[in-house]
Amino acid sequence: MKAELWIGEDRFCKRFFDSDELKKELQVYQKQLPMTARLISAGGMQIDLSLLQGRPYLDTPLSFFPGLLGRTLAAFHQSGFDGSKCWCHWDNNPKNILLSEDLTAYYLVDFAQLEFDFPEADLTHLLLFWIQHFNDEQLRLFTKLFINAYTLLMPIDKERWNQHIPLSIRRFNQRRIDFGKAPDLLLNNTRYIQHLIGL
Ligand SMILES: Nc1ncnc2c1ncn2[C@@H]1O[C@H](COP(=O)(O)OP(=O)(O)OP(=O)(O)O)[C@@H](O)[C@H]1O
Ligand SMILES: [Mg+2]
Repeated sequence: MKAELWIGEDRFCKRFFDSDELKKELQVYQKQLPMTARLISAGGMQIDLSLLQGRPYLDTPLSFFPGLLGRTLAAFHQSGFDGSKCWCHWDNNPKNILLSEDLTAYYLVDFAQLEFDFPEADLTHLLLFWIQHFNDEQLRLFTKLFINAYTLLMPIDKERWNQHIPLSIRRFNQRRIDFGKAPDLLLNNTRYIQHLIGL
């Protein structure tokens, strides 16, 4: 069930109706990672977070820094990596990744759907959101910059990456259906997507 959200003078407050979602968010915020908001307090079903000054990163496609985003996500994955799987952001839709107002950092928010899975599951799903915003040439360049930066910190398995593209497409389309939108027809073409974001 959807959490209740409100903004206080200096904080972002979130009250949950699902204890599993609360547990997942707390699991991340207790690590005090540089790419997340700070946990100000937690009690009952509520968490209070520092108020981030930023905007969903694809709202301003002209200020897009794929390398910085790759590095940020790699650092997040690295913080919960067992050598094969890691804690994945999972609901990595563009509203849950903010570009800071001064354009120097990306922040991840909303860990209610956190999953322990292969990093390739998180990465390929995130890239699918780029398809509606960029042309093919941009996509291939941005994907390359993103992956190059990511792999400076974290490994990517090529075979697993390609296996996860169709799985992520299915998850992406299911999410659209859950939100009452039609599946993205372009996205049903797995071979085309492999061409864009394949390794
Ligand atoms: N600490 C924060 N500071 C500023 N803005 C935030 C913060 N956390 C989240 N937001 C913004 O508020 C939005 C909603 O928060 P969140 O994603 O945690 O809740 P949600 O239950 O998924 O809500 P929604 O379904 O509306 O996305 C985020 O997409 C983000 O833009
Ligand atoms: Mg959200």
